[in-house]
Amino acid sequence: MVCFSTKYMGMEISSPLVLGASDLSLSPNIVMDAMDNGIGAVVYPTLFEEVAMMNQFSESQQRKYEIKQHAKRNMFPFVRHGDLHAHLSNVRDLVKRLNVPVIGSLNCLHPDAWVTYAKALEDQGVKGIELNFCVPNFSWSYNSKHTELEQCRIVELLKSNLHIPVAAKLSPYFTNLLHHVKLLDRAGVDSLVLFGNPIFPDINTQTEQMSFDVDVTSDSILHRSFPFIGKLYSNIIAELIGSGGVRNGYDIVKMILAGAESVQVVSTVYRHKVEYIPRMLEELKGWMASKGYDRLEDFRGNLSIECRESKRIFSRKGYVDMMIHSTNVAKKYPLKKMTEKLTL
Ligand SMILES: Cc1cc2nc3c(=O)[nH]c(=O)nc-3n(C[C@H](O)[C@H](O)[C@H](O)COP(=O)(O)O)c2cc1C
Repeated sequence: MVCFSTKYMGMEISSPLVLGASDLSLSPNIVMDAMDNGIGAVVYPTLFEEVAMMNQFSESQQRKYEIKQHAKRNMFPFVRHGDLHAHLSNVRDLVKRLNVPVIGSLNCLHPDAWVTYAKALEDQGVKGIELNFCVPNFSWSYNSKHTELEQCRIVELLKSNLHIPVAAKLSPYFTNLLHHVKLLDRAGVDSLVLFGNPIFPDINTQTEQMSFDVDVTSDSILHRSFPFIGKLYSNIIAELIGSGGVRNGYDIVKMILAGAESVQVVSTVYRHKVEYIPRMLEELKGWMASKGYDRLEDFRGNLSIECRESKRIFSRKGYVDMMIHSTNVAKKYPLKKMTEKLTL
């Protein structure tokens, strides 16, 4: 009998598939359906400081949360007044309606705002806070060390001010992500979400205009996440959550084989709707049954750095070997001239 129970930010959940932060969670009906279809937890979309500071809290509430006006209102005309209030009350509503954990997501500019709004989310009953650290850095003067220390500082600050667990959702773009993760781990982060999807602009060559839109992700980004999860598994205390490019049950298998405790999904639910979730879980179940695994921990981390072959692949030697044998590509896609050159 296959059992899917696992941990999410230290909490017991009955399914390893978690609905990641997106506008999908803005609809209670979609989230309820997702829960009925087998989702183990839900992350509510990110609350940004720019939205929070436009609050319409009463004076006493403002005092309670020590809300500060960090910027002038006309800096962010797209933010509606009262959005903080709406965000918090929607979160509270969702928490009441669901019997799976609801996680709040947050991104701020100032340390006191991180604390204030994390506490405000905690007060709504969320079971954990995901720190959305995927926002690109726009400053020329911030060096990489500064960014890393700042993230650790935020983790420490929130750990000492909250009663609920804290996850860091990271971008894959770090000079040495392994080192940075070690620092976050020492700072006390409970979980790591690897990875969020950084958004890049595109250029419309017809209109010669730049566009900057969120879109669903491509399949290929799955390969960004699980190798890092594999390298980190058993080397840190924090729990590992796979995210990005999960399309089916076999992608969940890959993340868990690398060492993930659970897996977030967003784009696949946009593409195929919540009814697709049982199919993903059926695939996972079928694969486990075919391999004789009853529980997720029976195969979790089997292809992490603890496995000899993975260790070789994750090493410099693995990289050099692979590049030396890159002539295999020319055999796969033969180009007459190129093959001649290669056999000279
Ligand atoms: C429409 C949309 C809205 C999103 N909103 C958020 C958000 O508010 N906060 C956040 O951290 N990530 C957000 N994301 C990113 C997703 O949570 C997720 O990290 C990313 O899409 C990669 O996972 P996927 O391949 O399963 O989609 C959003 C993604 C989409 C497509």
